[in-house]
Amino acid sequence: MRMSVIGCGYLGAVHAAAMASIGHEVTGIDTNPDRIAALAAGKAPFFEPGLDELLAAGVASGRLTFSADIADAAGSVLHFLAVGTPQQSDGSAADLRFVHGALDALLPQLRPGDVVAGKSTVPVGTAAGLTERVEGAGATLVWNPEFLREGWAVRDTLHPDRLVVGAAADDSGRRAVEVLREAYADAIAEGSPFLVTDLATAELVKGAANAFLATKISFINAMAEIAEAAGADVTRLADAIGYDDRIGRRFLGAGIGFGGGCLPKDIRAFAARAEELGRGASVGFLREVDAINLRRREHAVRLVLEAFGGSVVGKRITMLGAAFKPHSDDVRDSPALEVAIRLRGMGAKVRVTDPEALGNAAAVHPQLKYVADRDKALKGADAVVLVTEWDLYRRELSPEHASTLARGRIIVDGRNCLDPQAWRAAGWTYVGMGRP
Ligand code: UDX
Repeated sequence: MRMSVIGCGYLGAVHAAAMASIGHEVTGIDTNPDRIAALAAGKAPFFEPGLDELLAAGVASGRLTFSADIADAAGSVLHFLAVGTPQQSDGSAADLRFVHGALDALLPQLRPGDVVAGKSTVPVGTAAGLTERVEGAGATLVWNPEFLREGWAVRDTLHPDRLVVGAAADDSGRRAVEVLREAYADAIAEGSPFLVTDLATAELVKGAANAFLATKISFINAMAEIAEAAGADVTRLADAIGYDDRIGRRFLGAGIGFGGGCLPKDIRAFAARAEELGRGASVGFLREVDAINLRRREHAVRLVLEAFGGSVVGKRITMLGAAFKPHSDDVRDSPALEVAIRLRGMGAKVRVTDPEALGNAAAVHPQLKYVADRDKALKGADAVVLVTEWDLYRRELSPEHASTLARGRIIVDGRNCLDPQAWRAAGWTYVGMGRP
């Protein structure tokens, strides 16, 4: 099938490459010429495991092309809208300017019978507001939210847990759903459930899924606050409640909380939209979810301060991690960097290391000192603060080895991913988040 993907960021670039890898003819469109040049050369403009290989194979096959000219979307039967929906600079609602801009540009390229599939995360009701314009071009709009996780984006796109397509319950809506079913035939054949809903439900599924995941993390972080006060261990608590499969162990990792380009902004936009609908009270708990999450970053800073007896002035602190999570170079709303910045603001000499995210981190926070090599970053440290649980820190850094590099013996584990016994046995003061 011939398709276009408008917007080649984290979502669109992976989607375009994945669709080409299963035999479709795909044109990726983006207004950023540097990004297009990189993609056309088969190179991902960001770190995403497996994406370079997929892009290179797609470009070599001739099925995957990239362009900065929206006119190259003409001739496709299916057009995915995969542009960003950032948080408004003056509020918590979603900024839809890229969605509107992309659609405006696409409309003149559409032919009767084309399908436009929105993938961006939008406030419920957005698709209904766009339908008339798409229909005016003789095309049909469906909503097809994306649930991929950064770091697992290729896998999640090729083998999704589920596919959701929202469409109008009329003939053109039903025809459009069949176009999506054909586009995703491989995943469906492999067993991915294909759910057809109305437009509003499809939009809401995405908001609800993100709200639930964020709530799960803040729930366990709230338990971590209590565990800490009671002298209990939140990681064992999570193991124990997680065995109940109504609860499940995944997303019960307590620590410095969630960040990234999705969960934080999406729960705020979701709450803002609920307010507009007169249902602010229904998601009042999301404000609490956000507040608990932000408290974790402050608390991590407090734990470091306490470990030094109240002041970090002049202390050399090595931060292990900058990305908002491992397997990603994304530093958007990264709790790791926020903790680093606060410690620096308190007079510590902070050094940040990360295997992938230092370029992005330096672009946003040039005031921090970055050291690419983990061991060089550890040399002479008075304290070590683990803030992103890369294997390089979690599995491949023994306390014995760290002892040969650091000067002090304080390790603050912001992700509860180290073995406290092992570090204590090697003479370190181990501080977890909600662990005795
Ligand atoms: C998330 C959703 O998982 C995905 O379905 C949606 O499409 C976009 O938002 P992503 O932002 O890539 O994906 O990352 P995710 O793996 O969900 O992690 C989000 C944040 O939560 C990270 O900062 C991570 O460190 C944190 N987290 C995750 C925890 O603090 N504890 C956990 O147990 C799990």
